[in-house]
This record gives sequence, structure tokens and C-alpha cells, in this order.
Amino acid sequence: MRLLVCGGAGFIGSTFARQRLREHGDEVTVLDKLTYAGRVENLRDLEGDPGFRFLRGAIEDRDAVAGALDAAPVDAIVNFAAETHVDRSIAEPDAFVTTHSIGTYVLLDAARERSLRYVQVSTDEVYGSIEQGTFTEQSPLAPSSPYSATKAGADLLVQSYFHTYGLEAVICRGSNNFGPFQYPEKLIPLMVLNAMHGDPLPVYGDGMQVRNWIHSTDFAAAIGHVLQHGAAGEVYNAGGPDEEANMTVVRRIIELTGASDSQIEHVADRPGHDRRYSLSSEKVRALGWTPRVRFQEGLEETVRWYRENGWWWEPIRSGDYRAYYERQYGRSLQG
Ligand code: NAD
Ligand code: TYD
Repeated sequence: MRLLVCGGAGFIGSTFARQRLREHGDEVTVLDKLTYAGRVENLRDLEGDPGFRFLRGAIEDRDAVAGALDAAPVDAIVNFAAETHVDRSIAEPDAFVTTHSIGTYVLLDAARERSLRYVQVSTDEVYGSIEQGTFTEQSPLAPSSPYSATKAGADLLVQSYFHTYGLEAVICRGSNNFGPFQYPEKLIPLMVLNAMHGDPLPVYGDGMQVRNWIHSTDFAAAIGHVLQHGAAGEVYNAGGPDEEANMTVVRRIIELTGASDSQIEHVADRPGHDRRYSLSSEKVRALGWTPRVRFQEGLEETVRWYRENGWWWEPIRSGDYRAYYERQYGRSLQG
């Protein structure tokens, strides 16, 4: 297939671009605004591949989107482009509204004008928190944060384009991803790098919140399955095989990095913090997808990747991220 991958310079989008080029022989054009989270380094190994093209541009910019779709023939748009950090959405929701609402709208219009297939990458967070049991695609949307509320809004707009205009649109909702190339504002890379540098490990509240972890290569593969086999107008959940409390994850990272328990610091809880996420994936499994990476082995491999790839995270950890860290945690990084 010939794909326009929006937000393809981010953590999961770059994993998807690599998988489609290398394992499926697709042609991939990445359109990415290159926000703080978008990094051309994530696509370094794809440069020079004849099937790959990178364009810098925002999805809310009609001309940039039209330019990307005119640059080369495209069969489908896959939209990863998003602001993705809940804490930043609480502090500064502005960009979340622009990218998720206006950006998704511009992409949907472009797909409609050209009769393209459209895949929206979404999140389990649109369902809100669940104490027991597991969310299915029929669960009501009950988002808690500006991040998840604007993602839910984008999902509703996507569904309206199917119902109203017959756009061949599908939605794939993933659970918490982990793996190489994840920006260190998120729990796992933040804890790994702080552990390695002797910095405190800031656990929100009691640390007993539960997340359903999926490896980024598994989520990328689920999105690929939905792209190829999903029925128009449908939603497909893709949850990982394991659920873990945050404290369990942090303790395991301490073991894997040789850090100390004394680095754990319980800090003020996130406002409106969702207690537990859990996603049932029966529907996407019926399309032939199955997750391959269990959390424990994936975490070990991820820690190894961060240890061995300082070239990737050093420019981040010595740049604007330090100022963000100070604003968010009220203290500076030591290491
Ligand atoms: P990320 O923050 O690593 O990457 C986001 C990418 O989008 C960056 O390259 C950024 O530059 C780009 N971008 C942001 N705004 C843009 C705009 N207006 N126009 C063009 N590009 C823009 O995020 P990620 O973790 O790779 O997440 C990708 C998608 O997967 C998101 O839609 C997210 O909601 C969804 N998702 C993420 C997770 C997770 O745990 N990380 C779980 C489920 C779903
Ligand atoms: P995060 O990686 O931000 O993903 P999400 O909020 O989308 O689930 O956080 C994962 C969990 O880890 C969540 O319960 C919040 C918690 N957390 C901390 O305890 N400390 C931190 O410094 C961060 C970033 C997250």
C-alpha cells in the first residue's frame, strides 16, 4: 500500500513506518510537525529507502496536508499525530484541542475529497477508568483528562465522517505502549533514565494505579491489521497481554538498572488520575492479530535499549526536557 503516516516521527508512528516499509513493502510518506516529541532521529534508519519520504508539516494546515497528498499517490491516511502526554494536557491544553480537533478534521476532509481509506490511532483512555473488568468497543466514552477528551472528540468526528459521508474510516484504540524511542516524559523511560542517573523516581500518589501494557511493535502490528482488514466504520481495541501496578513497574526497573529503592519518592497525585485501564482485544484478534511481547521480557529489552542508545536520549535529556521536568516536578534533574 501507499501510506501517508501523520505523526510518523513519534514513538509509535516511527515504529509503524519501519514495520510497513520493512515487513510489508509499503511506500510510506511521513507528515510530521516535529513538536518536542517528534524526532527525525526516530526515522534515521529509513532515510535513503526508496519507498520512504519525510515531510515536515502540521495536520491542521490544509496546504501542508494537500501538498503531502499531491507529492505522491496515496491509498490510505494513518493518523498518529497527537499531543500525547496527560500531564502536559492538564498544564497546557491548547495544542491538544488544535491537533486533535482541527487536525483530525482537516485530515478527514482531505481523505473524503480523495476517497482515501482512513485509520485513526486512538487510546483506551477515551473510555475513562475501570475498577474491575475490561473495556470493549461497546463501552461508553467517559474521558477524564483534556488529552483523552480531545482524543474522544476526534474519534467521534471520524465516526461522523463514516456515517455522514461514507468515508472508509476505522479507529484503533491502544493501551499503554512501551518500547524503544519513547519520549522520557512517560512513566517507563522517565523511570529508566532517572534510575540510571541516580535521580529520584517520582511516583504519583500511592503508585497502585494499573496500566495495561502493550509493546509498540505489537500496537503497530494491530494498526496494520486494522488498516488492511478492518471494516469501515468500526472501532478495534488493541490491549497488551499484561496489567501491572505502577509500583511493580518501578520496582522492576530498579532491579534491571541496579538502582536503589531509596530513589522512590511518592509525590502529589495527578489531578483526575485514572486508577485503572484494561482493554479487551477480541475483535482485533478475530482479524488475525495477536500480541507477541510479554511485559517482563519487553521491559528488560527496553531497559537495555535505553542503556545502549544514549545517542538518542542525551540530546533530549540535556535540552528543553530539563525545563519541562522542573515545571512538572518542581525540582531539577541531577544527572
Ligand atoms: P508521540 O508524542 O511520541 O508522537 C506524536 C507525534 O505526532 C510526534 O512526532 C509529533 O511531532 C507529531 N505531531 C504532534 N502534533 C502534530 C500536528 N499537529 N501535526 C503533525 N504532527 C504532529 O506519541 P506516540 O506515543 O507515538 O502516540 C502516537 C499515537 O498513538 C497518538 O495518537 C496517541 O494518542 C496514540 N496512543 C499512544 C499510546 C501510548 O501509550 N503512547 C497508547 C495508545 C494510543
Ligand atoms: P504515563 O506514562 O504518563 O501514561 P498514562 O497517563 O497515559 O497512563 O503514566 C503511566 C502511569 O504512571 C500513570 O498512572 C501515571 C504514572 N506516573 C507516575 O507515577 N509518575 C510519573 O512521573 C509519570 C510520568 C507517570
